[in-house]
Amino acid sequence: MSLIEKLQWRYATKKMDASKVVPKEKLEQILDAIRLSASSSGLQPYEVIVVSNKAIREKICTIASNQSQIIDCSYVLVFAAWDTYTAQRINDAFDMTEEIRNLKSESGTAYRQNLLKNYPTRDPEVNFTHAAKQAYIAVGTALIAASYQQVDCTPMEGFDPVALDDILNLKERGLRSVVIMPIGYRKADEDWLVNLKKVRRSKDQFVIRIE
Ligand SMILES: Cc1cc2nc3c(=O)[nH]c(=O)nc-3n(C[C@H](O)[C@H](O)[C@H](O)COP(=O)(O)O)c2cc1C
Repeated sequence: MSLIEKLQWRYATKKMDASKVVPKEKLEQILDAIRLSASSSGLQPYEVIVVSNKAIREKICTIASNQSQIIDCSYVLVFAAWDTYTAQRINDAFDMTEEIRNLKSESGTAYRQNLLKNYPTRDPEVNFTHAAKQAYIAVGTALIAASYQQVDCTPMEGFDPVALDDILNLKERGLRSVVIMPIGYRKADEDWLVNLKKVRRSKDQFVIRIE
């Protein structure tokens, strides 16, 4: 299948088959792809929590409108953004770049200093919103990576983020949940959506070409 065929195959799975387990290697490939996502200034201001624990998934299900995929999938990925930008977080990211690229100290560079001056002093809510946007880019990568691996998934905003942060102790880690994504395998004979046509606006309505 071509990439486009795989993206056509992908859909927001409504019913998953609990008897089919996503192999560890496929999970790791999906996580590797997510890790390669682009992010503003390369800060990667979010983390991905992989929940396989059944009891915790049951708790998550209750605060996510009882969406059954959370129980029937193999793993629930939780995309959780930094609650704010701190000097430490910014410095860690720049220090890592410096180390990996064998650059001499960048601590005085205008770029780093500009972020250090502007980000930590902003309203934490503004910072969280900015970080959450980066997490959504990772969600997009995950959707494509899962379809590439012929693994089903359902991106979900339909959950109570405060309750989820509580279940996973995310506040202690300086994180706030943004999107969750059960990954598993479709149970086609019980999924009302599987055979319905994909609905997208035509390219003519969707792409503005300025020539
Ligand atoms: C950020 C986001 C949140 C979503 N939340 C839910 C959700 O809570 N439950 C659900 O069943 N589908 C959810 N969806 C799936 C969308 O409804 C679905 O992607 C859209 O209708 C397009 O259909 P398709 O993905 O099957 O092509 C979400 C999708 C995105 C991108």
